[in-house]
Amino acid sequence: MGQFVVPLLLCLLAVTLPGASGGSGRFWHLTDLHWDPGYEAAATAGRPCPSGGGRSGPAGPWGSYLCDSPWRLLGSAARAMRDRLATPDFVLWTGDDTPHVPNEQLGEEKVLHIIANLTALIKETFPGIKVYAAMGNHDFHPKNQFPGKEHRIYKQTAELWQPWLSDASLPLFRAGGFYSEKLPGPGMRGRMVVLNTNLYYDQNDETAGEEDPAGQFQWLEETLTNASRADEMVYIVGHVPPGFFEKKRAKPWFRSGFNERYLRIVQKHHGVIAAQFFGHHHTDSFRMFYSDTGTPINVMFLAPGVTPWKTTLPGVSNGANNPAIRVIDYDQDTLQVLDMVTYYLNLTRANMMASRREGEFPVWEEEYRLTEAFQVPDGSASSMHMVLERISRDPHYLQLYYEFNSARYDLELCKQECRVDHLCAIREVDFVKYDECVKTNSSTSAASSVWLLVFCMFLGFLSPQ
Ligand SMILES: *[C@@H]1O[C@H](CO)[C@@H](O)[C@H](O)[C@H]1NC(C)=O
Ligand SMILES: *[C@@H]1O[C@H](CO)[C@@H](O)[C@H](O)[C@H]1NC(C)=O
Ligand SMILES: *[C@@H]1O[C@H](CO)[C@@H](O)[C@H](O)[C@H]1NC(C)=O
Ligand SMILES: *[C@@H]1O[C@H](CO)[C@@H](O)[C@H](O)[C@H]1NC(C)=O
Ligand SMILES: [Zn+2]
Ligand SMILES: [Zn+2]
Repeated sequence: MGQFVVPLLLCLLAVTLPGASGGSGRFWHLTDLHWDPGYEAAATAGRPCPSGGGRSGPAGPWGSYLCDSPWRLLGSAARAMRDRLATPDFVLWTGDDTPHVPNEQLGEEKVLHIIANLTALIKETFPGIKVYAAMGNHDFHPKNQFPGKEHRIYKQTAELWQPWLSDASLPLFRAGGFYSEKLPGPGMRGRMVVLNTNLYYDQNDETAGEEDPAGQFQWLEETLTNASRADEMVYIVGHVPPGFFEKKRAKPWFRSGFNERYLRIVQKHHGVIAAQFFGHHHTDSFRMFYSDTGTPINVMFLAPGVTPWKTTLPGVSNGANNPAIRVIDYDQDTLQVLDMVTYYLNLTRANMMASRREGEFPVWEEEYRLTEAFQVPDGSASSMHMVLERISRDPHYLQLYYEFNSARYDLELCKQECRVDHLCAIREVDFVKYDECVKTNSSTSAASSVWLLVFCMFLGFLSPQ
């Protein structure tokens, strides 16, 4: 009799444990490589790098905070990925391959050449592994000007990415730069939806007057509806995110109507969206999505960039970052995000070491593990809401988040204005609600009422019950 007890218990355990059927898998998310092919020649000649915009500083062998990535930095990132996790389930690559230089220094040919070169690098790094690639606003010529219809650059890029695209995705990609694919693996009910949100960027004059460029919104709604019918779960992947830049007050990327429509779609279809992964900021942050009643229903993870390039956006102070890459642990059945580990290269240190030990690759260190750093069980929307609550209430967690935001480049204290900029950008993707959040939280009356509250609690603490 006894010999049946153990297997019986194990069997019961297996059927009752949530998620016991789905194994856990891992994938890479890398973004914003921004290769500057002219870096080395400029450094050798003692000229500022082409992507530096005339700013000059020390050009180390692994890069400079004023410049986009030299080839060696990208090679080092590729090697770090192979060393840390050579066979992920798949790779997300969310675009921006070219350097921050004026259009006149690029051209269609050169842009495509750079995309081709980085595509080859990623293929060599992960042979035989599925890569879901999205176009960034810099992966076009002239930059940002993506049309909502067929274009040579879409066609050429589809050609380059053909080994990663299914036959059904090719015509879609050629017509608008977006697609959706079922995740590989037996019995997998996951789906990847890769968007071309460059169509919604306010710098894009091609789509300015349009309601639904390339019909992408309608296609997205249909895709999510179909996913729901097929009992699939979806990751949404793209480059330019909706909402606001957390390092500059009131700086959105999408045109207002596009931002609203995107938000409405997520609110309506959140049940099938397991998470969203975007880039473009070069910083490490996240965005919360709430129901009308304030329940956290979705989260978007913004991955830090590989380029260390200090932004020239007016009003951003100290806007560089250390190069970073990230691994996501997920449930292969539900696509629930289980954990996230971010690796970074201390560029200052790498450049110092290089002068001492020639020919060695610098170490990309583990920066943090989401669940450990923020004491949450996983990366679900409700857990990320807890992270937001933690960084709102506890200055220690706010500072931790802030140092991760630039992959530990900027270690200054995040106080008043910085705090409001980050917290409101994380909490409110909606334009009107973001404005309200900033107004409410930065007014002196709001600040003093908080102090009043703290004071009252203090009195209550002192007084006998
Ligand atoms: C990409 O560019 C690098 C640096 O110039 C070069 O070494 C490499 O061979 C190129 N790769 C391809 C596939 O063209
Ligand atoms: C959704 O499913 C319908 C019915 O199978 C199909 O005709 C349509 O093409 C699908 N739409 C998308 C965007 O996949
Ligand atoms: C990066 O390296 C430099 C030089 O060794 C060091 O001063 C700095 O503290 C390091 N930064 C971090 C976040 O460890
Ligand atoms: C800002 O104010 C709103 C009320 O408009 C409040 O709900 C929210 O928690 C505050 N946000 C932050 C970041 O403190
Ligand atoms: Zn970028
Ligand atoms: Zn971008």
